[in-house]
Amino acid sequence: MTFSELIKERFSVRSYQDRPVEPEKISAILEAARVAPTAHNNQPQRIYIAQSREAREKLAAICKCTFSAPVIFVVCYDSEAAWHNRLMPGYQSGETDAAISCTHMMLQAWDLGIASCWVGMFNSDQVIEALGLPKNLTVSALLPAGYAAEDAAPIPMHEASRDSSELFFTL
Ligand SMILES: Cc1cc2nc3c(=O)[nH]c(=O)nc-3n(C[C@H](O)[C@H](O)[C@H](O)COP(=O)(O)O)c2cc1C
Repeated sequence: MTFSELIKERFSVRSYQDRPVEPEKISAILEAARVAPTAHNNQPQRIYIAQSREAREKLAAICKCTFSAPVIFVVCYDSEAAWHNRLMPGYQSGETDAAISCTHMMLQAWDLGIASCWVGMFNSDQVIEALGLPKNLTVSALLPAGYAAEDAAPIPMHEASRDSSELFFTL
């Protein structure tokens, strides 16, 4: 599969098999997050791997979108470690850096036959509290991942890409 094929084929999976994800695949997905570009190369991303039943149940109790996945990556950032743009007071790159890491993970996972779904519908403070994560972190995304259920299929939103004329503008 070429990269162009991968990014078109991938879709958000919301139904998973019980089958665990092999440790080497978890490692490869994390490696994709490790090498992701970050502002000023500050690397403020901090990623937790929820695989135990206990951790996944804690997340499921506060987020409707964990989909009983066998692994949930909790993609966080440390805003103090992030790059602070002195030309734009108040801006720091943590959210962007974490999002790039999460994108790398999602695409690397698909290349290894591991499906995922980017999840934003949670409260960061609740996740930090439930999992006992350091309070200086912000949770940017949850990424439930695993082998897709046999009947997993893209929902209609997957195909609903805007026309290029609405997105791209020549200057
Ligand atoms: C920032 C972000 C937040 C998202 N939050 C959720 C979510 O909370 N629950 C969910 O089921 N899907 C969520 N999604 C998945 C999107 O709905 C999905 O990517 C979009 O509809 C396009 O479909 P596709 O991924 O199948 O191509 C999120 C995606 C992104 C990028």
